[in-house]
Amino acid sequence: MAEIRRPDDMVRITTPELADAFIEEQIKLIQEQVGDKKVLLALSGGVDSSVVAALLIKAIGEQLVCVHVNHGLLRKGEPEQVIEVFRNQMNANLIYVDAVDRFLDKLAGVEDPETKRKIIGGEFIEVFAEEARKLDGIEFLAQGTIWPDILESENGIKAHHNAGGLPEDMQFELVEPVKILFKDEVRVVGERLGLPHGMVYRQPFPGPGLGVRCPGAITRDRLEAVRESDAILREEFDKNGLADKVWQYFTVVPDFRSVGIKDDKRAFEWCCIVRAVNTIDVMTATVADIPYDVMCHITDRITHEVPGINRVLYDFTPKPTGTVEFE
Ligand code: XMP
Repeated sequence: MAEIRRPDDMVRITTPELADAFIEEQIKLIQEQVGDKKVLLALSGGVDSSVVAALLIKAIGEQLVCVHVNHGLLRKGEPEQVIEVFRNQMNANLIYVDAVDRFLDKLAGVEDPETKRKIIGGEFIEVFAEEARKLDGIEFLAQGTIWPDILESENGIKAHHNAGGLPEDMQFELVEPVKILFKDEVRVVGERLGLPHGMVYRQPFPGPGLGVRCPGAITRDRLEAVRESDAILREEFDKNGLADKVWQYFTVVPDFRSVGIKDDKRAFEWCCIVRAVNTIDVMTATVADIPYDVMCHITDRITHEVPGINRVLYDFTPKPTGTVEFE
């Protein structure tokens, strides 16, 4: 197939009308490419894979098979939202794989951040390949590649992270319907396809998920403390009008405990670190200025509602010297 590139004079998709025209055009192209064959998609629930899923459902319906792997490192409510939106509302052919035990067993006792990342990435490919092998007649693999991915891989900045990683014997023809779009355009198209605003405009979330926010060896109880504190932080940022102003915000629970007091008793528990940053290009980042009373309220909620947490700290470190993530 000829390489499709973003035309130099392409108008930026900023309006519903432009999004509709793009959707119509892509539906035709997808139908031409795929015919009556089946397409497989790893649906994480992130912006790009969700928009690709919605586009393909519109173009080829049941010929699309979506696989959602729950690796146990997703945020609170995410696997449920994927099932609700895609299976219940959009009638997608969705395979939900509960791989939580499998991932957490493999990660048990592993402290090194890079080793954790490799285990999560490697296990994901294995689970996805196992599911793909169970299916008959799949000829295509859909991916949420976007235009910056192509540019960055051409410029040698990073390997094209979407391009497969599947075993040698499992090669599919690729379907990449948003590959000429920038992220902001993918979002406009996603909303026109009927995806929830919160799904399309959500903050960046790394592939290894909460695994990178649980420094030290991941345990189920500490992972739960990360998930619950993150849910509280997101709820409070939404309520206080910060969600649209701060670029990325999350909590981290390192493997470290200190003495505190709860219900008049000694509480030897973890601390929860809140990180909130702003950035333009992610190469550098500044620390977000969160109102003092909002931070006090968040601290109160996290220390009283999340088991195992007796302190909340705020990370004042810009990038550099920190990175955005805290692992
Ligand atoms: P760092 O920590 O490198 O993060 O300053 C920069 C941005 O990249 C996100 N990030 C990832 N995104 N897979 C992703 O898709 C990953 O493995 C990954 N690691 C970090 C991070 O959340 C931040 O937005």
